[in-house]
Amino acid sequence: MCGIIGYIGDTNVLPILINGLHRLEYRGYDSAGVALLNENRLYLQRAAGKITALEQKLPADAPLSTIGIGHTRWATHGVPNEANAHPHCDCHQRLAVVHNGIIENHGVLRQELIDKGHIFQSQTDTEVLSHLFEEYLASGMPLSEAVRQGLLRVQGTFGLAVIDEETPDYLMVARNGSPLIIGHGQGACFVASDTAALVGLTDKVTFLDDGELAILSRNGVAVKTIDNRSVDTRVEIIDQNLKRIEKAGYPHYMLKEIMEQPQTVEDTMRGRLLEEECTVKLGGIGNDIDSLLYARRIILTGCGTSWHAALIGEYLFEELVGIPVEVEYASEFRYRNPIISEDSVVIAVSQSGETADTLAAVREARRKRCKVYGICNVVGSSIARETDAGVYLHAGAEIGVASTKAFTSQVTVLALITLLLGRMRSISSARGGELLRELQQIPQKIERILQQHEQIRALAEAYQDARNILYLGRGYQFPVALEGALKMKEIAYIHAEGYPAAEIKHGPLALIDKDMPVIVIATHDSIYDKILNNIQEVRARNGRVIAIATEGDQEIKKYAEHVIYIPDVLEPFAPLLTIIPLQLLAYDMAILRNCDVDQPRNLAKSVTVE
Ligand code: G6P
Repeated sequence: MCGIIGYIGDTNVLPILINGLHRLEYRGYDSAGVALLNENRLYLQRAAGKITALEQKLPADAPLSTIGIGHTRWATHGVPNEANAHPHCDCHQRLAVVHNGIIENHGVLRQELIDKGHIFQSQTDTEVLSHLFEEYLASGMPLSEAVRQGLLRVQGTFGLAVIDEETPDYLMVARNGSPLIIGHGQGACFVASDTAALVGLTDKVTFLDDGELAILSRNGVAVKTIDNRSVDTRVEIIDQNLKRIEKAGYPHYMLKEIMEQPQTVEDTMRGRLLEEECTVKLGGIGNDIDSLLYARRIILTGCGTSWHAALIGEYLFEELVGIPVEVEYASEFRYRNPIISEDSVVIAVSQSGETADTLAAVREARRKRCKVYGICNVVGSSIARETDAGVYLHAGAEIGVASTKAFTSQVTVLALITLLLGRMRSISSARGGELLRELQQIPQKIERILQQHEQIRALAEAYQDARNILYLGRGYQFPVALEGALKMKEIAYIHAEGYPAAEIKHGPLALIDKDMPVIVIATHDSIYDKILNNIQEVRARNGRVIAIATEGDQEIKKYAEHVIYIPDVLEPFAPLLTIIPLQLLAYDMAILRNCDVDQPRNLAKSVTVE
């Protein structure tokens, strides 16, 4: 949420900043800005809207500079206009600050600074930082100390970068609760709020920890804590694959990511299936398996799509592993003082590994001395680093704001953990082998569904003017119904609700009329007959049923107006297939309705604020 990029080195900074901002735009896209130092003068340019609006405002003769910072914003405090866009300056436009996070005591600090004569230009919480740093600079401190002293006064979360026209030989960065990654170049340093901005620039990085600040100069990086203890600079090498963050000929990242799923699910399983033993090997939890295996209770937590994947995890673990599971929104878990005994285990599911609520839930669980595992996609992310053990998705960068391939990889990881634990508890080798072989088939079964894109597009054309859509599923398909509805809301802006099919009698049936499309996931499984009954209930009220059914099911055509077929699949893994047509349908509807698929209004990819 909000993207930060910064650079100091020996090449012209502006193209580096603009390119970096484009890579970070999926984190926030309501306004953007850059600040540079040219001949020891601060140059600032900001614009409301997307990065292209900022580019249009930048003059062809924008000053050359070798030090600068940039920001793309997702508004928290203050409407998205130019005045509230970052960077923010002090009274004399001597220094510039970009910030991701929320300064919780900004009201008190603002009043204190106004009383001292500071004049504010924006409604943002961030602007208190620039005036606070100005205050300490005015007392004669160097920038590094002014920033440190200022931050000691601040409560809240921040990832930030600061430049000062009287300090052209370094820039300051600091982190508390919002990710910041320092990139090490030849005679140059970068800072970014995620590694996507560093691809092609450097693969040597330092992940700043909470409570740390760093001085970035052409000679290298010095890290210390905000309370002034020295810290060794840890350098790690990250995987750099430009292809993974490009659209590869697709019109949108979301479509690319949907279409990539045969490959990404395969990548999630790669090297992890042990065919002979009919089980699974997961290096990230190999040494920490006992807490999971003997857990009296597993709590799965996450937000958004990751929470839906966690719900599928509940069905998998309870049915095939036999451990009681609870699934909780991370935002609820973190504030309600949950009862967690030492034999409970928490598994946090998060694509980005940075979602503020999920990270806070992880910290709360650790504070209660519980073993915490992470299922993350972004390598080196905060949740991946703060959990005791975990499993990476290896799905590659997901850029589209609506999560697609991360969902199927999350469910795949949960299926792998299920197989691993199940085989150590009660699953026979015959059943294990059956499950394992089914997992191996999933990528090519997804491929077969993707080949029906034309048919799904035609369906989208038929329903593009729908104002409400109901999604129904039972058992493993209930979370899929929730996820299908979420996709439709997120990108096509159509009110959609997911419901357990049997529950419609307790309310939603009242909504059904001839204008209500009802998508029913009616695959051939243990409760197929029950779901047929639910379809009849909808039809009896003139609802328009679109069924997701299993290939070969002719019966369903009697009840549903439209049928999308998926290949036959073992029930526990069916969500990996049934979600695919729902992702495509949401995408096609959004396109037909002229929605901004990759950057839906008001949303952001990585929600690093509460
Ligand atoms: C945002 C994204 C969703 C995502 C959710 C949780 O709302 O738009 O796509 O599911 O955050 O993100 P996480 O990175 O924790 O999975």
